[in-house]
Amino acid sequence: MAGGSFSHTPIDVIEVATKYRKINTKIPVPESIPILKKMYSLEAQAMHGQLPMIWDKACGFQVYDKWGNVWLDFTSTIFVANAGHGNKKIVKELKNILDKPLLHTYTYPSQERINYLEYLIKNTPKQFEKAFLLSAGTEATEAALKLMRLNGQKNKKIKNGIICFEGAFHGRTKGAQMMTGDQKAKAWIGYHDPNIYHLPFPYPWNVNNPKDFFNTEIKKLLEKNNLNAKEDLCGFMLESFQGWGAIFYPQEFIEALFSFAREYNILVTFDEMQAGFGRTGKLFGYEHYKVEPDILCCGKGSSSSLPLSIVLASKQIMDLPDIGSMSSTHSANPLSCVAGHQNLKAILDDGLITSSEQLGAIFHQKLNQIKDKYPKHLKYVLGKGLLAALIFIDETGKPLSSLCDIISEKAFQKGLLVVHTGRESIKLAPPLSITKDALLEGIDVLEECIKESI
Ligand SMILES: Cc1ncc(COP(=O)(O)O)c(C=O)c1O
Repeated sequence: MAGGSFSHTPIDVIEVATKYRKINTKIPVPESIPILKKMYSLEAQAMHGQLPMIWDKACGFQVYDKWGNVWLDFTSTIFVANAGHGNKKIVKELKNILDKPLLHTYTYPSQERINYLEYLIKNTPKQFEKAFLLSAGTEATEAALKLMRLNGQKNKKIKNGIICFEGAFHGRTKGAQMMTGDQKAKAWIGYHDPNIYHLPFPYPWNVNNPKDFFNTEIKKLLEKNNLNAKEDLCGFMLESFQGWGAIFYPQEFIEALFSFAREYNILVTFDEMQAGFGRTGKLFGYEHYKVEPDILCCGKGSSSSLPLSIVLASKQIMDLPDIGSMSSTHSANPLSCVAGHQNLKAILDDGLITSSEQLGAIFHQKLNQIKDKYPKHLKYVLGKGLLAALIFIDETGKPLSSLCDIISEKAFQKGLLVVHTGRESIKLAPPLSITKDALLEGIDVLEECIKESI
């Protein structure tokens, strides 16, 4: 139906009135239905399918509608509002630039852009000497694809080989989608770039020896495609964890991948769209692996608000494209730069990475206790810091996606927003500014929903 699988029929729900949540209407709100239907009639349906609510205001870790309901947010929209919804530092500096006004500069410089670049480079790992600012995450992964190939061409590689992973997601534009590991999602393209390859993802439950797994799979891939690692491979593209299930790679797998990449002069890019800006208890998710990637792609949590994606790399890599051959109309928009600058400042100055690590430990401890109570349905709790994925699989190994739909909808009715993945996982990602009290309340609500749904 238009609007996706969630019911659009308002029903009576138990009234909620706690410090952090308030539900005082039928859910969905009856008055919201004609407004939602109007939107469905005007906009591409691909944008729809979300829980039926209309956001009016979002502050800190709470979301408000205009009918008096308040939700505790375990989504950060979608890993965006890491520094908290409507972060005061971001809002204050945005107001200043609106008052100037300076709303757009194209590629003409602005002081805001220079200040941000300087702060960003100073506060990110040392191998990142230059940044390229864009708007969407998919643009950042496309740019990384281009940089890896230009570097390969400079090094006289014969083929432009890029190795990605089955099950990965890197965006919805053509190059990003070709790197994505989901055949169905990219069927619309009609052909496949012959120099983009996919390795199987080392799911921890499938792989006993991650190092051997990497070495065996890469050997098979080279043989099958008649590739010479030194001459034909330019880059690896990998998410810091596989998105739908917050599944980190085994450490030994990453070590084997890096030793292979360094031996054959192949660049390594991490896609940090979901993992970046404190989400996992470190500034960047890849830092858990103690490695130094060549290129980093960020988005989502890089501004906690306005469209801003980032590519980071060394000077040598970043300056491969000629003047004018890697830019975009809205690149480094002054408003996005201000939002990005204040966002990073808030994350660093307000200790949000430490909060993510410390609250994350409590979060995972509590979620694992829930897992132990419902072993017939809840098989894994994955993720790190204030990122978690609950994977629902029954005793026969059957993925329980519709149970996840039911739990997400029930949570919505009780004033808690969780990330609905459409798969056998529920993802949780509260703003890093959440308090312990609110985090514990949200976990209790989630447990109530699981108990009532199975
Ligand atoms: C890992 C990853 N890469 C790339 C993207 C694409 O980002 P955007 O939707 O901003 O284009 C996403 C978005 O969900 C993502 O999760």
